[in-house]
Amino acid sequence: MSVRFETPHLTFRAITYKNCNEPFQITEETITLTKTSNEGYTVGDDELLVEVHAAALNPVDLYLYNSSYWIFGNKPKGLGRDYCGVAVKVGSNLSAKFSVGDRVAGVYTRPFGPGTVSEYVLINHKKFGSTLRVPPGVLLTDVELAAWPLVFSTAAEALEVHRGSKPIGKDSVVLVIGGATAVGQNLIQLAKNHYQVKKIVSVNSASSNAFVTGLGADYTIDYTVHQNLLKPTLEIIKTELEGEKFDFIMDTVGGSDYFSDINLVLKPRKEGSGYATIVGDQKSNYVSANIFKVLTFFGIFARIISSALGWGFKYSYFLLTPSEKYTSWAMDMFEEKKLKVTVDSCYAFEDHQSALARLSSNRAQGKIVIKVKKSL
Ligand SMILES: NC(=O)c1ccc[n+]([C@@H]2O[C@H](COP(=O)([O-])OP(=O)(O)OC[C@H]3O[C@@H](n4cnc5c(N)ncnc54)[C@H](OP(=O)(O)O)[C@@H]3O)[C@@H](O)[C@H]2O)c1
Repeated sequence: MSVRFETPHLTFRAITYKNCNEPFQITEETITLTKTSNEGYTVGDDELLVEVHAAALNPVDLYLYNSSYWIFGNKPKGLGRDYCGVAVKVGSNLSAKFSVGDRVAGVYTRPFGPGTVSEYVLINHKKFGSTLRVPPGVLLTDVELAAWPLVFSTAAEALEVHRGSKPIGKDSVVLVIGGATAVGQNLIQLAKNHYQVKKIVSVNSASSNAFVTGLGADYTIDYTVHQNLLKPTLEIIKTELEGEKFDFIMDTVGGSDYFSDINLVLKPRKEGSGYATIVGDQKSNYVSANIFKVLTFFGIFARIISSALGWGFKYSYFLLTPSEKYTSWAMDMFEEKKLKVTVDSCYAFEDHQSALARLSSNRAQGKIVIKVKKSL
């Protein structure tokens, strides 16, 4: 599939917004290409031009939209971080990794920059290098292929980097607060199928029990019937885990229920335990969520500093750093049939408002995907 561009301007449709006071809309965007001596116009040496087929939404899209104050200017800002599509132009430095026509997928995170719900994305692979050629053994549809990169990478980074000092392994006991969130689903599958951990406890609503146990959770706690998670968690430690506390706690929804009694649920730090959150102390409210609100919580900073100084328990609050390491790891797991992708719902490009409404509901079980290519 060789596409020859005869002008330096590639014009296409994308979903964009200017600021938090204006709605998302379909706009015409332009990428400027570079002239070559023999093939018309192409991309920079480190760039990959992708014709996007499908793109998934993430709560961070709403966080960024809600945070896009006038100070960030009125330049169009894109929707979407995950994508799958086809490489239509490959920069000269990337020819060992990609060929024109390759099926590709990855995460492209440029806060307040272009998004992936766009007919084309131009990716500087040196700066945003999580894109991968999809191996032929990965038998996912385009919609499924767009529905894992950001959340899988976040789960992988949590287990690899932000756990305690002891690597997660066969003797680990893991608690996932929000086992039914898209990040939680991937974390459960990684913990069970890759690290083969001993036990996983998931906090989710009762309506997701069968779903999370199907992915690998051993026990569940229904957050809808407990105002505070400490008591039911202590009960599971006592009855099901025979007194064994957790090696790693991962919070994917936000909260602070355990901090006052952390020693009752988390093993001692000297045994390599850790607690990580990707949200902070407050439950995320996708409708009003704002990246600046998270940063105003003193407790998070106090815990990060005391953890870094070696006081108390090992605590991390982190933002994903996309990496080829995680996306290629997922490809291996897809080929080995050890990772399932759950798509909650799928929308046409023109129906992006319905997709955003579903995302805002915080009820999606799996990813919300927008079909960018009409024929999907
Ligand atoms: N820091 C980072 O780098 C990073 C990266 C990715 C995501 N995140 C953040 O992580 C959070 C999760 O993202 P996501 O895309 O995985 O979420 P998601 O898939 O949109 O989560 C939806 C699910 O959350 C569950 N849920 C809702 N309220 C809950 C509660 N109080 N306790 C437990 N589960 C609850 C619901 O399942 P049930 O009610 O049926 O259990 C629902 O199906 C978001 O706030 C997102 O912004 C941060």
